[in-house]
Amino acid sequence: MNFSEKLKSWQSQVNQSLEDCLPGGKEHPARLHEAMRYSMEAGGKRLRPILVLAANDLFPGPVDPMPAALAIECIHTYSLIHDDLPAMDDSDLRRGRPSCHLAFDEATAILAGDALQPRAFEILADGYGRMPGLGIDLVKILSATAGSQRLVGGQMQDLLSEGKIPDEDNLQYIHENKTAAMIQASLLMGLRIGSRGEDTEKMEAMKRAGKSLGLAFQAVDDLLDVTSSSEELGKNAEHDAEHGKVTWVTLKGEEGARKLATEHTQWAREALQEVGGEGEFLLDLTTYMLERTS
Ligand code: IPE
Ligand code: IPE
Ligand code: MG
Ligand code: MG
Ligand code: MG
Repeated sequence: MNFSEKLKSWQSQVNQSLEDCLPGGKEHPARLHEAMRYSMEAGGKRLRPILVLAANDLFPGPVDPMPAALAIECIHTYSLIHDDLPAMDDSDLRRGRPSCHLAFDEATAILAGDALQPRAFEILADGYGRMPGLGIDLVKILSATAGSQRLVGGQMQDLLSEGKIPDEDNLQYIHENKTAAMIQASLLMGLRIGSRGEDTEKMEAMKRAGKSLGLAFQAVDDLLDVTSSSEELGKNAEHDAEHGKVTWVTLKGEEGARKLATEHTQWAREALQEVGGEGEFLLDLTTYMLERTS
């Protein structure tokens, strides 16, 4: 299989497994489960689950990486539902559909996000509970990443910085935490599940790869906000300037942001080469993530 066939095949496996791992839309209370499914089924690129699968594939072992891939997508999707709320970014379009709080209502969107978080850890417990060393490590990675000093901390600082004068250290903190942390966790979880998961040097190199890839990813997200259309993105374009967000585009201009994204992608590729293994797909994925248009 070439790169795009493998990407499509993994996307459809992930979509099918996500479909199977959430309570049915008719389960009581149906409104809540419908809202969870609405945001999840809307699609999205599924990049974080695919990073888990691809990192596991570097040194595959006997353990199935899919539960970890699903868990991280549950946390990611909750973060998008909450990110779009009127109290946060106030965005009305997500994954090509009205945001969860518009399709349902604010309280339901908050609760759908809330419910996706424990589901992530339940999926990890079900998938890896019989391998306590591995299971605890995965819970540690995901819980620390989703918490107040990473994802949620980055989101807090993003909101506190609206309308402020851009400051490079602050922007670096926001991007490292609201976005790069989850990309990094995806790669670390995938590698941890594989046969070299206890190799600390490899895990350290993967940490560097994940941070750089995540920083590149958010630089591209900021660029697409100004260069692409809402239709193409499936979410509100030109949203950041309207909301006074600090981004690499506001700080360094489009060209500066593009240069940063390219540099970080290059650093990610170098770190991935240090990790080693069957890395061709993952290297191609870094290019795809840099060149994406949505
Ligand atoms: C959007 O992530 C939020 C950011 C961290 C920039 P994605 O661009 O991966 O969104 P989906 O999952 O494809 O919808
Ligand atoms: C959000 O960053 C990152 C998280 C959801 C944690 P953005 O606010 O830039 O994401 P988009 O552009 O709405 O997808
Ligand atoms: Mg945001
Ligand atoms: Mg947003
Ligand atoms: Mg954005």
